[in-house]
Amino acid sequence: IDADGRRRFRLALGEGRTELLPGTTTATWGVNGPILGPTLRVRRGDRVAMDVSNHLPETTTLHWHGMHLPAVMDGGPHQPIHPGRTWQPSWTVQQRAATLWYHPHLHHATAAHVYRGIGGLVIVDDGDHDAASLPNHYGVDDIPLILQDRRIDDDGTLDLSDLAFSGLTITGLLGDKILVNGTYDPYVEVSTTLVRLRLLNGANARIFHVGFTDDRDFSLVATDAGVRGTPLSLNRLMLSPGERAEIVVAFRPGEEVVLRGFPPPLGANFAYQRLAGGGDTHDLIKMVAAATLRPSAPLPARLGREVPVPTPTRPEPFRLEMGDFHLNDRTMDVTRVDRVVRTGSVELWQIVNGQSIPHNFHVHGSAFHILDIDGSAPPEYLRGDKDTVYVRPGATVRLAVRFLDHSDIRWPYMFHCHLLAHEDAGMMGQFLTV
Ligand code: C2O
Ligand code: CU
Ligand code: CU
Repeated sequence: IDADGRRRFRLALGEGRTELLPGTTTATWGVNGPILGPTLRVRRGDRVAMDVSNHLPETTTLHWHGMHLPAVMDGGPHQPIHPGRTWQPSWTVQQRAATLWYHPHLHHATAAHVYRGIGGLVIVDDGDHDAASLPNHYGVDDIPLILQDRRIDDDGTLDLSDLAFSGLTITGLLGDKILVNGTYDPYVEVSTTLVRLRLLNGANARIFHVGFTDDRDFSLVATDAGVRGTPLSLNRLMLSPGERAEIVVAFRPGEEVVLRGFPPPLGANFAYQRLAGGGDTHDLIKMVAAATLRPSAPLPARLGREVPVPTPTRPEPFRLEMGDFHLNDRTMDVTRVDRVVRTGSVELWQIVNGQSIPHNFHVHGSAFHILDIDGSAPPEYLRGDKDTVYVRPGATVRLAVRFLDHSDIRWPYMFHCHLLAHEDAGMMGQFLTV
């Protein structure tokens, strides 16, 4: 807490080396350490101040994905931090409890900067739901899992080829080595009967279809932008890059189970399904339960106040068609504004994947509900407050997007595909909130 009563965080972005594969070291980038960065924990109502200093050899930015803040604090392509400089955004936290994250967002360089290791979680707490009702002892029964994939040579070098979108890598690089919280081949010890996992797909392009090796059920308790009204029992959950989910899993004493990425049902044709990683299986993390477990409070039937699906205040839809390197036949231009929205409004955004390639869609400065996918109501696990959604080949996804109250005539927010090679190639646009 600084002299002005603000919760102040110091984030130093720099180069480092770390042992990812046993016996070798890998040159990586990280925040306050060699890879990834600290989990920032804030409460609704907090005033926060960030000191983000760039000790990297390149200009970068730091974006607060999912955070509701003024566009000039958003850390998108318009807020570059040059080497040796410090960026000091500050804002008041005004949103529901959720698991958010931070990552670089420099236009044309996002894929490389995230891949080298810059990123971390932001946990927002609030008083809306009974925090005591969900496991909430960080690192004990409330465990963050940042899921990423890398290609690492035998000598430890990070393979940076194929980071860009090309004819051969339709999604950008897919790695065969899974890192969870920056660790290769990880395990975690479980000491309670219920464990909450905060899952983030922090990969550049890989889509994870998570589940357990014994197909056990787990309870989905939160989506990207906040806690669900009620838990939902599932045994698989698909997360595309940028998406988060919180799940609660039950354990029996002494058991071992692996959280696995199963082949994701991408809805692509046979060739593209394979090229996009749709045939891949990866073990993510082994979970080892202690011989005796502390009993957790049972999961409550009601979790929190649900945000009702809002009705668009502007009836005509904003239609965006995804194609090669572009949205509506245009590639990202930092000098062009693609949409102007009213503060506090709700708009109907219609996202069309006109390609055979998997995409997803993320909007800054907002949260949304999925109204329908190809005209049908979304599956239950996609109902809830979100900011990123998978858009399978050929699909039309309609969103009710709630925009923030931060009006700014000068600085835009972004919307884009969160497959980072696609975003870097120009599948991104900007909007002003006025
Ligand atoms: Cu995760 Cu535009 O960002
Ligand atoms: Cu974002
Ligand atoms: Cu895409």
